[in-house]
Amino acid sequence: MRIDYRAEIKRLKEELDVTVVAHYYQRDEVFEMADITGDSLELARRCKADKNPWVVFAGVGFMGQSVKVIAPEKRVLMPKIACCAMARMIDGSYFDESVAYMVKHGIAKENILPITYINSDASVKAKVGEMGGMVCTSSNAYKIIEKGLESGKKILFVPDRCLGQNFANSMGLKSCVIGVGECDPKEADVICFNGFCSVHQLFTVEDVAFYRNKYPGIKIAVHPECDTSVVKIADFVGSTSQLIKYVNDLDPEQKVAVGTEYNLVHRMREKNTYVLSSTKPECPTMNETTLEDLYLTLKSIEDGNPINEIVVDPHTVKYANLALERMLAIK
Ligand code: 13P
Ligand code: SF4
Repeated sequence: MRIDYRAEIKRLKEELDVTVVAHYYQRDEVFEMADITGDSLELARRCKADKNPWVVFAGVGFMGQSVKVIAPEKRVLMPKIACCAMARMIDGSYFDESVAYMVKHGIAKENILPITYINSDASVKAKVGEMGGMVCTSSNAYKIIEKGLESGKKILFVPDRCLGQNFANSMGLKSCVIGVGECDPKEADVICFNGFCSVHQLFTVEDVAFYRNKYPGIKIAVHPECDTSVVKIADFVGSTSQLIKYVNDLDPEQKVAVGTEYNLVHRMREKNTYVLSSTKPECPTMNETTLEDLYLTLKSIEDGNPINEIVVDPHTVKYANLALERMLAIK
């Protein structure tokens, strides 16, 4: 007998003390089933405030981990433990190597303030927390870097070199990327780890030129994970939520090409909105979660045998939480 996943998911949500959460990049059919949707900052904040003891999080691993870190009493399950490719580029030992690089180049450890993009493993967030550092998201990176600079220390920014460099540029700061050309930490304010998002690397200067030639007057709006060359020539740069607001607020006749994940752009206003790419820039791991996965995860709670539970050890929770709470405290 075929299972009607939608009907079963609705039934299970009514019967269980569970909140289903989905990031904006999820497939439409999964996204539509969620009680809470949003970008990574909104999801972290709203999960913490949510009353239900169970969270089923359709997203990538670091997002489920973040909920577990800020609300360890919750049971967090993921329909698919999908990994963000960028988050996988750095682990604790790469983080230590980056600190060692700065120390070797004359910056004492106590003069380094690490900031990690939320797209990182809890173990990296914990290392950052232990050093007095903070987490940031693409919505609040400007404020967090600004706050970090008040310490008078050098900022070590991990793992996304694009986010680090784009915000440094917008703040008039000097930045460099470890392992790329001459990166002298003494000469830079923001020293970036060499990580990136392969999805957002798909948007190019040529794509911008193509759309501007084809539709003179078109607006170009991109996510700060895009390459610095693209961000420099865009009309608007913003996180997922900021991009949605920007596009919604445009005159309906204003054309716009958006440089971010396909599922999200596809869900924006239909008319006069284009994906800034000749390819279909889907986040492969976000797309792994299916309705069947969501159903099976909820069913596992009903059956008393929960699957795909996120477990984070107490030491990691303690220090990753410090880094996340420092971010959440900055309005
Ligand atoms: P947001 O912080 O905008 O949700 O982005 C998360 C992400 O993974 C972007 O690629
Ligand atoms: Fe990670 Fe890029 Fe996917 Fe965002 S789009 S979750 S940064 S791989």
